[in-house]
Amino acid sequence: MELGRFPRKNQARVSDLLARTEGNGETTVPPATPSLPFREGDPAQDARAFRHCLGQYATGVTVITAQVDNDKAGVTANSFSSLSLDPPLILWSISRKSRSFALFERASHFAVNILAADQIELSQGFSGAETDKFAGVAWQPGLGGAPLLDDVVASFECSTEALHDGGDHLIMIGRVRRFAQHERAALLFAQGRYAVAEDHPDLKRDRVAPALDDPAGAQEIPLMNLLFRAHNLTSGHFQQHREAQGLTRAQVRVLIGLYEVPGLDQEQLAARMYLGRRDAEDAVEELFELGCLLRTSDGSLRLSPAGAARREALIARAAQFEADFLSGIPKEQIECGRSFLKQLIQNRQ
Ligand SMILES: Cc1cc2nc3c(=O)[nH]c(=O)nc-3n(C[C@H](O)[C@H](O)[C@H](O)COP(=O)(O)O)c2cc1C
Repeated sequence: MELGRFPRKNQARVSDLLARTEGNGETTVPPATPSLPFREGDPAQDARAFRHCLGQYATGVTVITAQVDNDKAGVTANSFSSLSLDPPLILWSISRKSRSFALFERASHFAVNILAADQIELSQGFSGAETDKFAGVAWQPGLGGAPLLDDVVASFECSTEALHDGGDHLIMIGRVRRFAQHERAALLFAQGRYAVAEDHPDLKRDRVAPALDDPAGAQEIPLMNLLFRAHNLTSGHFQQHREAQGLTRAQVRVLIGLYEVPGLDQEQLAARMYLGRRDAEDAVEELFELGCLLRTSDGSLRLSPAGAARREALIARAAQFEADFLSGIPKEQIECGRSFLKQLIQNRQ
């Protein structure tokens, strides 16, 4: 559901449904004949229908936690929202009826845990009536003691910046002091039920991805498509090794790019390693912070000894990963693939 990348031509498809082609070939949008609402009303008269209508808005699912003295609280919440990048602020709202209300109101810090697709149980546990919601739950203390749950998609450790009245809820604004992101699918909540993100069917329709095990279909798969899929697949599986080395995909590309051609500048790195300019810039800055890069007197970039050591560790992991990943494929086939890819690159470089 990457709405930000929803192609314009697909947006046009939606309007196609509304548009009508006149005899003169011109397309006109018919006069608005809106369908009758399934339900409508005044929230003051029908609170339940109002709640259902609000629930049409799809969200992620978070568990927000805090600790005061030795007491911990955790509440499942989907009112979480980003608020400001500079300063870094987020917000959520807690029901004044919540048993945890008094604790959150006093907490100097709180943590937002964004749940992964396989964490429905946690969502249920933290929205239920149990007295010890943390029993059997794996977590680590974060800033101010606020529990950070294991295996979430992302977490934001916040200091309480401001509290605002929000009717029967209290709006809590947090200043993000630390964030962490993992490569996992997020749990969603939409129209009253748990969900997972899937590409919009219009996007799928644009994609050429016939089944590989269909011999007739396999003939038609363009080589470009296979190369792209193979790259995405291997890169996805290798992600855990990058994480284990404490490196992002972009940082790894910069490390490898500078090893292959020492002295590249950011722009050249971006072009050579297929990185966005902004991503290359960020990765270079982060690698400097990790002590992995050096800038020589002429301003060019080089790997530091620490950077070279990280690259070497990564290459060792890659070798092991490759052996595991390719196990089961006959050796001759692997050699055949290797020589084909080499030739392709040599011919076109
Ligand atoms: C998907 C989902 C989203 C929720 N969002 C919120 C929310 O944003 N704020 C809130 O106060 N309660 C929210 N709740 C309800 C609380 O999780 C629930 O009332 C919980 O039992 C409160 O815990 P407590 O009484 O132990 O404090 C949500 C529940 C679910 C299942």
